[in-house]
Amino acid sequence: MAQRVALITGGARGIGAAVAARLANDGWRTVVADRDAAPAAPHRAVQADVSDEAAVGALLAGVRAQEGRLDGLVCNAGFMVRKPLRDLTLAEWNSVLATNLTSTFLLARAAETMLREARGAVVTMASTRAHMSEPDTESYSASKGGLLALSHALAVSLGPEVRVNCVSPGWIATGGPEPNAEEHAFHPAGRVGRAEDIAALVAWLLGPEAGFVTGAEFLSDGGASRKMIYPE
Ligand SMILES: NC(=O)c1ccc[n+]([C@@H]2O[C@H](COP(=O)([O-])OP(=O)(O)OC[C@H]3O[C@@H](n4cnc5c(N)ncnc54)[C@H](O)[C@@H]3O)[C@@H](O)[C@H]2O)c1
Repeated sequence: MAQRVALITGGARGIGAAVAARLANDGWRTVVADRDAAPAAPHRAVQADVSDEAAVGALLAGVRAQEGRLDGLVCNAGFMVRKPLRDLTLAEWNSVLATNLTSTFLLARAAETMLREARGAVVTMASTRAHMSEPDTESYSASKGGLLALSHALAVSLGPEVRVNCVSPGWIATGGPEPNAEEHAFHPAGRVGRAEDIAALVAWLLGPEAGFVTGAEFLSDGGASRKMIYPE
């Protein structure tokens, strides 16, 4: 069987880097795209801003030319702006939407032919914040809610050749301060998440065992969003 090819956006660090490492370890040929320089081997690293239409076109043309196929697309690049509503500029709103939502439209559109040819799969990276919020997170929550809806729209349009699913992580510790004991214990699962937790779910969703799974959302949040909270 030919080696499967995956493109992972935002793969220079954090969850994207763990997904790329997991897929490479599982035998995939991996291409990592990030606006920051990413370590290469074992991946092919491309520096690209996935909110930019021309950059996404060039990225997918490069995959066609160099890898010749695309079996898995992981739309993971994203960031948060946390600001009071009154201070959030339209430019900031637009830039969060451009990376966290519009990039998946651009990537899926540019990758459609290759994904259909390979009978491939797409995984998008939303957030439990698509469903629940802290104050001052309007642009991020809106982008992730939009991404969740875009994911099921794509699943319906690209089937039956291409499956599209959405992963919504909760708190995943990726390089920031180490969570304390209370923060771990807050989660019904007894701990804060790790990037490898998300990578394992993405690997399964891209693989043949998930053949009957499309248009779905998978929360991986240690149960935090199922916990009912009242004031003491
Ligand atoms: N860490 C969490 O707790 C958590 C929870 C829920 C959802 N998420 C989502 O998971 C994804 C990864 O999060 P993370 O914690 O690993 O973040 P991170 O900041 O560690 O990594 C994100 C990567 O995306 C890249 N990136 C950002 N904008 C880009 C663009 N326009 N073009 C190309 N690359 C771009 C960054 O350079 C960075 O390498 C994001 O979409 C985030 O919203 C994370």
